[in-house]
Amino acid sequence: MSDIKISIYRRDHHKGEMGSFVEYNVPYEHGMVVLDAVNYVSKYIDTSLSVRWNCKAARCGSCAAEINNVPRLMCKTKIDGLVGKIHVGPMRAFPHVKDLVSDVSINYEIDRKIPKFTPKRGLAKPWIVHEPDVLRSQEFRKCIECFLCQDVCHVVRNHDTTYIGPRHVIKAASLDMHPLDSIDRSTLLKEKMGLGYCNVTKCCQDVCPEHIRITDNAIIPEKERAADAIYDPIIRAIRKLRGMK
Ligand code: SF4
Ligand code: SF4
Ligand code: FES
Repeated sequence: MSDIKISIYRRDHHKGEMGSFVEYNVPYEHGMVVLDAVNYVSKYIDTSLSVRWNCKAARCGSCAAEINNVPRLMCKTKIDGLVGKIHVGPMRAFPHVKDLVSDVSINYEIDRKIPKFTPKRGLAKPWIVHEPDVLRSQEFRKCIECFLCQDVCHVVRNHDTTYIGPRHVIKAASLDMHPLDSIDRSTLLKEKMGLGYCNVTKCCQDVCPEHIRITDNAIIPEKERAADAIYDPIIRAIRKLRGMK
């Protein structure tokens, strides 16, 4: 059994340390993923290494990291598939905590700002939803909240804007596309949540481990919806007549 070399970012934010990559030798086993190598280091070489993970099955989203500078799930990234030296670091769009752990809690704060499901008034029960209407937003429910899409987004990462980011646009889009929902979130996204800063580069959908077509199926439709709601006089008149926001 040969060894592989893996460089892992080490820094304790609370001790005011400067961060750096530290190289470790790890025994290679056929089929191993990056999380196996990181866990080997944390179990047998340096137990002070902080790493977050739960399912090891690409379901919980907690092992999100930057592997060779690309946001990926450690438990889904095979060592065999990586070219050159392996560098593993924390997601850099979020405040750093320690080693491979970032503080992603801002996402839960943003999530609370998106208006929740608001059913149309006077709907007879039981509520009936037709399958084609459900299928449209079904894709967004596959989100595992890994926040890799937030991490890769250059607007979220580099600019001091109000943009809430791709994960949260798909949440708003899934509610806006709900056939029984009564409110419009796209105008809020455009006017208060920075949707206009997104320049549809599609980097977010490229890194999504659930292959959600974030830009094509959520961001672009929400941009179009907002443009209609704000600038189309006929749609504005209809919405006014129907008493919609
Ligand atoms: S498409 Fe928009 S949300 Fe996605 S990464 Fe690019 S700028 Fe960010
Ligand atoms: S949309 Fe995809 S990349 Fe973004 S948080 Fe959900 S699963 Fe992760
Ligand atoms: S450990 Fe759950 S997604 Fe990787």
